[in-house]
Amino acid sequence: MAATDGPPLIKLGVEDAIAGLVLSTEAKWNQTEEDWRVFLREGVVFGIRNGPLLVATAALLPYSGNNAWISMVLVTSSHRRRGYASRLVDACLETARKNGLTSWLDATPDGAAVYGRLGFTPTLQLRRLKLIMPVRLPAPPPPAASLDTLRARDRRATGFDRAALLTAFAQRSGSRIAASPGAIALVRDGRTARHIGPLFADNAGDSLALVHAIARSETAPLLIDAVAPQTAFLEGLTASGWTVERPFQRMRFGPATSAGDEMPFAVAGPEFG
Ligand SMILES: CC(C)(COP(=O)(O)OP(=O)(O)OC[C@H]1O[C@@H](n2cnc3c(N)ncnc32)[C@H](O)[C@@H]1OP(=O)(O)O)[C@@H](O)C(=O)NCCC(=O)NCCS
Repeated sequence: MAATDGPPLIKLGVEDAIAGLVLSTEAKWNQTEEDWRVFLREGVVFGIRNGPLLVATAALLPYSGNNAWISMVLVTSSHRRRGYASRLVDACLETARKNGLTSWLDATPDGAAVYGRLGFTPTLQLRRLKLIMPVRLPAPPPPAASLDTLRARDRRATGFDRAALLTAFAQRSGSRIAASPGAIALVRDGRTARHIGPLFADNAGDSLALVHAIARSETAPLLIDAVAPQTAFLEGLTASGWTVERPFQRMRFGPATSAGDEMPFAVAGPEFG
């Protein structure tokens, strides 16, 4: 089938949050309805319907400095290999091109097979790790830090100003910004597990100390999307009970844009970068 054949692409609205959540839940992803609302409110989300049923999506979330994040590329299993993901990502790229944006994404292995063909080039490797918490009484949480401190550190590391995104995360019930000497991280709710990230630290020891302090204070399963070149951090996590669930490949389409000044230890999530 040619890439332009088939049902039309439509732009989705905030009222499609639940239908989007059905797709990400089918893929066993961790997004909540609130996450979908971020994409639908702050970004452009394309979809394909089969009758009234939403069967495929892709989102473009603009960031500062002519950057944008592509994510939520999902096709329900009965409609795969019909070119839907390719068409939807093409629509995101066309929107980015019209607005002069460089597009980034963090690809699952399935996604990387689609994006490589479209001209994305690989950059950074990430690893998703999970920690199943033992049943026990939680310790008190590490001290809280301010949103401004997190924003400043995030900007230094990513090169993007993600004030809107970090503010939305921080305002959710269940979110907290935790800090310990030399490290800061955001913890938020997910559908099946709490998520730690982004996480910034002066060194691997400081990053591990903060993750351990957060883990001691939590009772639900935890996820973290670690930056693979931070090898001492990754090794420290796996040595303390975290298991690697899957890799993600960061990819870029378009010219390199301003890089950050420091490498994070964990990102906000593959869907947000
Ligand atoms: C990845 C996913 C979005 C692909 O959707 P899709 O509509 O089937 O993709 P397309 O039909 O556009 O595929 C285009 C090409 O990519 C490649 N491709 C797609 N899925 C593939 C897979 N599972 N394995 C290997 N190659 C694959 C093929 O070359 C395919 O062309 P072909 O069918 O002519 O051989 C879909 O499998 C999915 O929703 N997976 C679960 C969620 C996920 O991993 N999303 C990606 C997040 S980064």
